[in-house]
Amino acid sequence: MRRDEILRWINETDQAALADLHRQADAVRREHVGDAVHLRGLIEFSNHCEQRCGYCGIRAPNQAIPRYRMSSGEVLDRAREVHRLGYGTVVLQSGEDPVAGGHWIADLIRSIKAETDLAITLSLGERSEGDLATWREAGADRYLLRFESSNPELFRKSRETTPHGLVDRIRTLEVLKSLGYEVGSGMLIGLPGQTSADLARDIALLRELDLDMIGVGPFIPHPGTPIGRHFPDPASVDGQVPSSEEMALKVIAMARICCPDTNIPATTAVATLNQQDGYERGLRAGANVVMPCLTPDGVRAQYQIYPNKARLHGADPETQRDLLVARIHAMGRTVGRGRGDSPKAGKRSAMAVVAPE
Ligand code: 5AD
Repeated sequence: MRRDEILRWINETDQAALADLHRQADAVRREHVGDAVHLRGLIEFSNHCEQRCGYCGIRAPNQAIPRYRMSSGEVLDRAREVHRLGYGTVVLQSGEDPVAGGHWIADLIRSIKAETDLAITLSLGERSEGDLATWREAGADRYLLRFESSNPELFRKSRETTPHGLVDRIRTLEVLKSLGYEVGSGMLIGLPGQTSADLARDIALLRELDLDMIGVGPFIPHPGTPIGRHFPDPASVDGQVPSSEEMALKVIAMARICCPDTNIPATTAVATLNQQDGYERGLRAGANVVMPCLTPDGVRAQYQIYPNKARLHGADPETQRDLLVARIHAMGRTVGRGRGDSPKAGKRSAMAVVAPE
């Protein structure tokens, strides 16, 4: 898909044409990654964060949310639950919390690996090269770090005082790759100030980064943030990309077409805009992963990156899993077994084996 085609799709509003784009993406998904939907158990273990991202509800200056940090025993307990439920991967996510630092995380990774065969995905923000290396050595398999926007100016403006720019973030993605992580990235859709051309460049960057995982979702305004408080009606701003479900599904579809053998989740943000069947629509537009949330009920509401986060129905994690599995089966899809590693990473190591000296 050329850049001008990407741009054309971003501006396309004809429903029949869009249905066709979804069908195309769905066919590419089936051919390259199959019908299996991989489930990843997500544990949001700390909402402490040193950053001041203008869009994110857990930004440091937001005093309206109580802060929590689970103990490593509690996280380990939840990881056991993820394993017991039959999910092949645990995703450990937090704000940039210095207290949950290098050794603490490394010990946690070793404990999980000692007891289970779970793949471990980390989503802990921009951390030092030393920490990233330590965690990889401890056994972490994958790392998620969105670049958020490929427009350096929009990146800088949206993330306020952070000393790190887009260049540093891209560099961190390269470091992660060189450490042997499966690497995931992505961006926000409809961030105020984002134009169609910006979004087209974002999608082109997904392809250039040669990612194992791509996570994208609509920007959802949070009233406790500067960007959320001054969120203009997107329709009133010339050239502004809407942060709509329709746009998010288009982007998932294009990401699939541009990066055929990448793992792509139907994200919670999409499901938040459409609590009815947002996951299904994502899965039909090219996605092949869902990340059910296993954060304990007592703190879940405090991990408030954005408000009204979708949650899967079901009183307990088992019922939640059964209902999710039933929804996947109802679509004619299967549930992935095992770790659900990136097909691309498999090819990479196979290439390494046959590569000549
Ligand atoms: N709306 C939607 N997504 C958000 N994120 C942060 N704030 C918001 C928001 N207001 C996303 C960022 C981050 C991921 C963990 O959550 O893209 O990388």
